[in-house]
Amino acid sequence: MVTPVIQVSQVTRVYATGATLVQALRGVDLVVKAGEMVAIMGVSGSGKSTLMHILGCLDHPTGGRYLLNGQDVTRLDRDSLAYIRNRQIGFVFQSFNLLSNTTAWENVALPLIYAGVPGKEMMARARAALQQVGLQGRELHLPTQLSGGQQQRVAIARALVNEPAIIFADEPTGALDTRTSIEVMALLQHLHRERGLTIIIVTHEPDIAAYCQRLVRLRDGMIIEDRVIAEPRQAAEEGECRA
Ligand SMILES: Nc1ncnc2c1ncn2[C@@H]1O[C@H](COP(=O)(O)OP(=O)(O)OP(=O)(O)O)[C@@H](O)[C@H]1O
Ligand SMILES: [Mg+2]
Repeated sequence: MVTPVIQVSQVTRVYATGATLVQALRGVDLVVKAGEMVAIMGVSGSGKSTLMHILGCLDHPTGGRYLLNGQDVTRLDRDSLAYIRNRQIGFVFQSFNLLSNTTAWENVALPLIYAGVPGKEMMARARAALQQVGLQGRELHLPTQLSGGQQQRVAIARALVNEPAIIFADEPTGALDTRTSIEVMALLQHLHRERGLTIIIVTHEPDIAAYCQRLVRLRDGMIIEDRVIAEPRQAAEEGECRA
């Protein structure tokens, strides 16, 4: 059997702030196979970002076990987690998280600097990643010179530039209008279909989850629903796909 990309068993996360303990995750079991496109939903405070941070190797679980591509990453130290993130994982956030006085090209190249890729190759790969998201010709634009949807596509290019196997997107359309959201979903669906990327999207919006193949719902730090979406919406047919 092929090893799943993500195998999480009985994962808990307790936050300690002063004297208060918050049980953000209370025993989560989740298996994600390579090439799945999964939506994680749930009301505010249900543990979505906490789970995504653990799955994305940004944080450790308090208890339970996490295997990423078969490797036990539950107790790895910060440096080892950073190494894994750099090579296997791409992130996309609601607020784009682009450096403001930095061109699209340099923003995309950033993860390659950390990975120690030589200058010439770095710029070529950043340019290619921008092309993949339909932003050729915008290499030298600053974030303020781009629309919200274009900024999010720069962020997606940055997530892609290390050729990760998994993309984690936390509310990737949260700051975008409906039409632009559909464009971003078209791009993610395209990457999923054409490149076989595993994509995990945290969203509040049922309309966005509908573009995924599977829906996982959290409540109070537990998975209360996990089901296949029989006929995912196709963003390219509804909006303009620039991928
Ligand atoms: N760093 C932290 N320190 C203390 N408590 C935290 C921390 N991060 C999250 N929490 C708490 O853990 C619980 C889950 O938070 P989390 O951010 O995972 O929710 P969420 O589902 O992503 O919510 P939202 O939809 O608002 O983004 C909440 O009760 C929250 O207050
Ligand atoms: Mg959140």
